[in-house]
Formats: sequence, C-alpha cells, structure tokens
Amino acid sequence: MSRVIVIGPGAIGCTVGGALLREGHDVIFCGRRPFDHLRVHKDGEVEQAVPAHVLTTAAGLTPGDWLLVCVKAHQVTSAVEWLRLGIAADTKVAVLQNGVEQRENVEPFVAPRTPIVPVVVDLPATRMGPGHVVWRRKAKLSAPDDADGRAFCMLFRKSFIEATSTDDFVTMAWRKLCLNAPDGAILTLTGQPRRVWHKPGIADLGRAILRECIAVGRAEGAKIDESLIEPQIISFLSAPPDEGNSMYIDRMAGRETEWNARNGVIVRKAAKHDIAVPVSAALAALLAAQEARLRPV
Ligand SMILES: NC(=O)c1ccc[n+]([C@@H]2O[C@H](COP(=O)([O-])OP(=O)(O)OC[C@H]3O[C@@H](n4cnc5c(N)ncnc54)[C@H](OP(=O)(O)O)[C@@H]3O)[C@@H](O)[C@H]2O)c1
Repeated sequence: MSRVIVIGPGAIGCTVGGALLREGHDVIFCGRRPFDHLRVHKDGEVEQAVPAHVLTTAAGLTPGDWLLVCVKAHQVTSAVEWLRLGIAADTKVAVLQNGVEQRENVEPFVAPRTPIVPVVVDLPATRMGPGHVVWRRKAKLSAPDDADGRAFCMLFRKSFIEATSTDDFVTMAWRKLCLNAPDGAILTLTGQPRRVWHKPGIADLGRAILRECIAVGRAEGAKIDESLIEPQIISFLSAPPDEGNSMYIDRMAGRETEWNARNGVIVRKAAKHDIAVPVSAALAALLAAQEARLRPV
C-alpha cells in the first residue's frame, strides 16, 4: 500500500483520495479547510462517512510515495509549501487538472527529475462541502503510457475509478480542451448556464473557438481535426439548459477561474507556432479583465 498525499481536497481530490482510501492506501488530504470525515458517493447512492487524515498547514507534512496535485491550475502557486515538504527523492507526482499544461504548472516548483505524471480527468464531480463530494456518470483518469503513468494507474486497479494509460496523451488532453475551451469562456463571459448555447451567434462563436483550438492542438502533435466540431456543438446544445461548468460556477461565486489554463493556453501555444487565434485572444483578454476586477489595485 502507498502513502498518498492529496493536495487540494476539492471535488476531484476528495473523489480520487476517497477511492484510494477505500482500497487501503494511507491518504493524507492537504487543504485550506478542515474536515474530519470524508463523504464521497456516486449520485443516487448511499453515502458513507470514513475518517480522514486532513492537514491544513504544511508544517508536519512528511513526504509520500505519491503526491497528487488536485488544486485548480491557478492555485498551484499557493500550494508550493505542500510540494516542498511532501516530495522526497523517490516521490512521484501526478497532476490531475484540466488543460494541457499539467506538467508545466508544477515543474517550476519541484526538484529537477521529479517524476511528474500529467492526468486527464473525466470525472464529473461536485463539492457539497468540505470533505463531501458527489460524482456522476463516470470516473475515468488517463495518464501517459510510460512507467510512471502505468504506476499511477495501478494505484486505482481495484477501485471504482477506471485509470488507464494511453499511448497518445497529447491527443487525449487536447480533445478535452476542445470541450473546456468554448464552454468555459462562453458561460463565464455571458454569466449564463448552458441555455446560452441556443442564443443567436453563440454556436458559431463556439465553432470559431474550436477551429482555433484544433489548429493549435494539431501543431502541438494532437491527432484531432475539424470533424470534432459539429458533434461537440451538438453536445453543448443538448446539455441540460440550467447546467453550468466549473469556470461558470467559480465566476458566479466570485472566485478566480481556470481561464488561463483553458483559453490563455491556446493563445500561448499558438504564438509558439505562429498561428493566428484572434477569437481566443479576444476571449482571453476579456476573461483576464473580468478576473482583474477580483483584485482591484
Ligand atoms: N470537478 C469536476 O467535475 C472536474 C472534472 C474534470 C476535471 N476537473 C479539473 O480538476 C481540477 C480540480 O478541480 P476541482 O473541481 O476538484 O476543484 P475544487 O473542487 O475547487 O478543488 C480544489 C481544492 O483545492 C483547494 N485548494 C486551493 N488552494 C489550495 C492550497 N494552496 N492548498 C491546499 N488546498 C488548496 C481548494 O480549497 P477551498 O476549499 O478553500 O476552495 C479546494 O478544496 C481542475 O483543474 C478542474 O478543471 C474537475
């Protein structure tokens, strides 16, 4: 059994940590808010509370076999003390975040040659309160098909989470970004849930974002093409009209959002390849300006 440190016990951290706890791993949750029991259950199933080992200050943290980074992309810089104390020479780090920069987000804060496993998370989960999470429909994680990625997947082999390694992680991560980039920006900027997809011009805006995301993803090596666009737009249009997404929910609650990991990234990566992405650039500027209101000078 492994000693697993979970940084960021939110929707994903609690679900993933809860799955490992049930399998007998020694799980330490490192967060900002205390809780003493973990309640993680699938929507509609009976919840069970299990005692949880939770730290809210980094002092006293000792390294684990694994350290799972489950804070949102923009929160990593606030979590560096956990990374400093939770990682020893033989610790492996996994980064469970949306976007395509899981490795880049953490690399500056860990020692050179620390194994970092980027993970695509396909696990719709909602935090009901500290230590309490409900997940829905599916619980899938994907890591690269190398020794560290396979070792990460092995942690979950008997759990309710399906963790698999893929020989084309780049494509998998960009496919997920094709879902997140249009939906996050459009709901957040309009302040409306998915019903907004039916408003005039919005589906075309989504198509334009997708075209840019696909062009940049292809330049980065993802095997994606424009055949993705219409099925993705149809899935946005068929979503429950009152449903939001995590950027929208964070914006409505007055919190920072992951706009930079989902939209800013398209602009950054496009510049590397000299690809024009005027729609993403405009959205990123608007999202950045909207966010700046949270930090008035
Ligand atoms: N939820 C989903 O359905 C879902 C699905 C796929 C992918 N993802 C991705 O998974 C990642 C995690 O998302 P999430 O939904 O789990 O977010 P979340 O529920 O907001 O959880 C983040 C957790 O990290 C904590 N945190 C923030 N800064 C911290 C720090 N410096 N030290 C310790 N803890 C800190 C937060 O504390 P507070 O309690 O104080 O906020 C919160 O408990 C994101 O990249 C997201 O895009 C999420």
